Amino acid sequence: MVLKDILNNYHTELDALYGKDEVNSFFGILMEHYLESKRIQLVLNPEYNITAKQGILFLNALSDLKNHKPIQYVIGETEFYGLSFKVNKHTLIPRPETEELVTFILEDVTSNTVEKSLNILDIGTGTGCIAISLAKNLAKANVSALDVSKEALSIAEQNSELNKVVVGFIHDDILNPSHAKLISVSHKFDIIVSNPPYVRNLEKEEIKPNVLDNEPHLALFVEDDNPLQFYKVICEFAQLNLKDKGALYLEINEYLGEDMIQLLNDFGFKSIELKTDIFGKDRMIKGIK
Ligand SMILES: C[S@@+](CC[C@H](N)C(=O)[O-])C[C@H]1O[C@@H](n2cnc3c(N)ncnc32)[C@H](O)[C@@H]1O
Repeated sequence: MVLKDILNNYHTELDALYGKDEVNSFFGILMEHYLESKRIQLVLNPEYNITAKQGILFLNALSDLKNHKPIQYVIGETEFYGLSFKVNKHTLIPRPETEELVTFILEDVTSNTVEKSLNILDIGTGTGCIAISLAKNLAKANVSALDVSKEALSIAEQNSELNKVVVGFIHDDILNPSHAKLISVSHKFDIIVSNPPYVRNLEKEEIKPNVLDNEPHLALFVEDDNPLQFYKVICEFAQLNLKDKGALYLEINEYLGEDMIQLLNDFGFKSIELKTDIFGKDRMIKGIK
């Protein structure tokens, strides 16, 4: 099969949905994934031929893209903090703003010139992107990560192997945690980090259909009348399980920055710092026990 013909087919079927540039970009990603070849190869060799088996992969991907499936789920992987992560329908696709949360933590830690062996816990780990990036960049850290979804934890475990780091994974429900199980993993934590579900149902109309129809709602949504449900439980948990002067880092709903400052205050956190993301939206908060 001639690859150029498949690309033409992609443009015919998908340009109206995504625009020409995005379709070219998808095609490049698929070429790298299925053929280990850069898109420039198609320009250099217009008669680039692929096998029938490879052709089927491209046709299946086309049908997924027509159905609004995010490209990351189509190929089953994505990149986060310069590392590769497997993703599937049970895991949220890691977002760039969460990379900023990791940077926030790493900058704080590395500004303390002596790198201690920190105990870190990531709550609601999903693909494990936060926990694994921290473990990769903090060689001496002892990192644990928790999620209520067994399916997500299975992907996170595969991702820790893929990225050659050790993370202790815990299957638990943070809304109803068996604290004994956690404390047996590690006495007290220097850092607790979380990017919990925080999108209110009333914000659903701001969410694109490809997210709504494909990403796990368990990872995204909270009730309109209790939008800080996870944060309240995590603050309480952190006050119990952080060492003195330990730090809590949270990714937050951009509309709830002031409420989050109030919440951390109410739970007795000190040196509270609200941070915006690159788009100037309130996106992260830190408090010290
Ligand atoms: C917004 S996602 C974050 C995933 C990942 N940490 C990231 O930043 O991409 C929230 C995660 O919390 C998990 N979660 C939802 N409810 C939970 C609960 N009650 N206890 C523990 N984890 C929960 C979901 O399975 C999901 O993986």
